[in-house]
Amino acid sequence: MPALRIDGRAVAARVLADVKNRAATFAAAKGRPPGLAVVLVGEDPASQVYVRNKGREAEAAGFRSEQHTLPVTTGEAELLALVGKLNADPGIDGILVQLPLPKGIDTDRVLLAIDPAKDVDGFHPINVGLLGSGAAEKALVPCTPAGSVILIENVLGPSLAGKHAVVVGRSNIVGKPVAQLLLQRDATVTIAHSRTADLPALCRTADILVAAVGRPEMIRGDWVKPGAVVVDVGINRIPAPEKGEGKTRLVGDVATEEAAVHAAAITPVPGGVGPMTIALLMANTLVAAHLREG
Ligand code: GUN
Repeated sequence: MPALRIDGRAVAARVLADVKNRAATFAAAKGRPPGLAVVLVGEDPASQVYVRNKGREAEAAGFRSEQHTLPVTTGEAELLALVGKLNADPGIDGILVQLPLPKGIDTDRVLLAIDPAKDVDGFHPINVGLLGSGAAEKALVPCTPAGSVILIENVLGPSLAGKHAVVVGRSNIVGKPVAQLLLQRDATVTIAHSRTADLPALCRTADILVAAVGRPEMIRGDWVKPGAVVVDVGINRIPAPEKGEGKTRLVGDVATEEAAVHAAAITPVPGGVGPMTIALLMANTLVAAHLREG
């Protein structure tokens, strides 16, 4: 049987509709909408697209939405001053500083400066620690991992007891937090990376396979266990000469069509995890608003 294609756009639309309803309730009770500030330093085209989309979704959810675009020459002190101002702004519940930051700015120092209660990316060490110590209900959890786990739960249900999850990739943004979330749901979790021995053989033992390596179509069909649930977090732009000269297309970290022969369910790229990231950012902003206001 061909794999179920997990429709991330449809699930994200349901999350966003719920956020919009709850944001209206919050606004009626508190006399103000939840507020999200997104900070972009420089002109990276992919980051510009992400930031624009985040602003659009925030407005669609009924939030106050602010975008701060700073030139690539911005110094760390100036960026820290803006973060300080947003920390102190009572109408702002969520602060997101788009990564990567230009060279010369210490990313860790900037992330540490964000008020943990407004850290809607979940990258502050306080939130990382709360997630790691099993207190995720008190933490702001990173958006892409949280969205990925919702997609898995939609297929397998809330308990992952007895399942072996293999997470390929150990980044702070995806690999490590998604592993923590899967562990919390009682999966047995292995984190694999570029130095793992015989990665294909390890992947073949995965009931749940999460790919977050940033290498186009690295995970091949014969790495996938029959009946596995495959979540592809990668978004890679590659040349597509078949579409014409200079054209490109988006692919994930998984060779989707090959993997779909073996998997029970798989997320497509685009239209899988991507839409969930933005939906969970809005959900996190609402969580942050309630954390601050009760
Ligand atoms: N750049 C790529 N992904 C992300 C993300 O989830 N959050 C932020 N702040 N920057 C990113």
